Amino acid sequence: MFMALDEQEMSVVISAMDERKVSAGENVIVEGESGNELYVVEEGTLECYKLFPGQTVPKFLKNYEPGDAFGELALLYNAPRAATIKAKTDACLWVLDRNTFNYIVKDTAQRKRDKYEDFLKSVKILQSMDHYERSKICDAIKEERFESGQFVIKEGEQGNIFYIIVEGEATATKTIEAGKPPKEVMHYKPGDYFGELALLKNEPRAANVIAKGKLKVVSLERNSFKRLLGPLDDILKRNMDAYSNYC
Ligand code: CMP
Ligand code: CMP
Repeated sequence: MFMALDEQEMSVVISAMDERKVSAGENVIVEGESGNELYVVEEGTLECYKLFPGQTVPKFLKNYEPGDAFGELALLYNAPRAATIKAKTDACLWVLDRNTFNYIVKDTAQRKRDKYEDFLKSVKILQSMDHYERSKICDAIKEERFESGQFVIKEGEQGNIFYIIVEGEATATKTIEAGKPPKEVMHYKPGDYFGELALLKNEPRAANVIAKGKLKVVSLERNSFKRLLGPLDDILKRNMDAYSNYC
């Protein structure tokens, strides 16, 4: 959510934030109440629970760890809190007030969500995710452009970024026999993804990926990839079988 801000906007946001210590067991946010603050975790773990229609017991949804943010929905949509957030351990939070959030962060974040939500919904690998999970991906992605013939990924290099094609095409080439030129092993079009192997296996890049014509992609860096696409681990790993013909 803060990635879309420039340096000056970021420094205004940082100076507006206050530190708050909470104790294990304390509710930081209660579902259904009104809310005026967004939180970033510096230390500790918090749990998120939500009551679904027809249920009497709230369902555990996820943990929040250092670096994660929560409590943005009530501010973005002027709605009651959509879930309860409870400290699992003693925790240290940074709190951002509604005014600074509205003034600096909200429009930028909302514009980014509006811009990418429909596209991400059309990406096959992300279709099993719910609207909320996809909106977190919207916040974290970065748009990048490449010219025809430019390498997005170089075989053998270290890799920390995952890509999805928005517009244009690309090809993957791979060294099959040492000393011979790499061979084309894959063709990519909008909605296709690549660059997951280095992140899943902690290995150097297994192929080159080269723009064929003008190329626009969105990218996710390693931490966001692990945090946001963690639930897709199995599908991503299953899809890796498609490469085995060429490995
Ligand atoms: P907010 O509604 O302001 O307060 C509760 C927070 O829980 C919400 O913002 C989100 O930051 C977070 N949350 C995590 N998962 C969900 C979910 N599936 N639905 C709604 N809120 C969620
Ligand atoms: P990664 O190894 O991170 O970077 C290069 C990417 O090319 C790789 O992830 C895959 O997403 C993609 N790729 C396409 N075809 C192959 C292949 N045959 N073997 C390995 N990677 C491939």
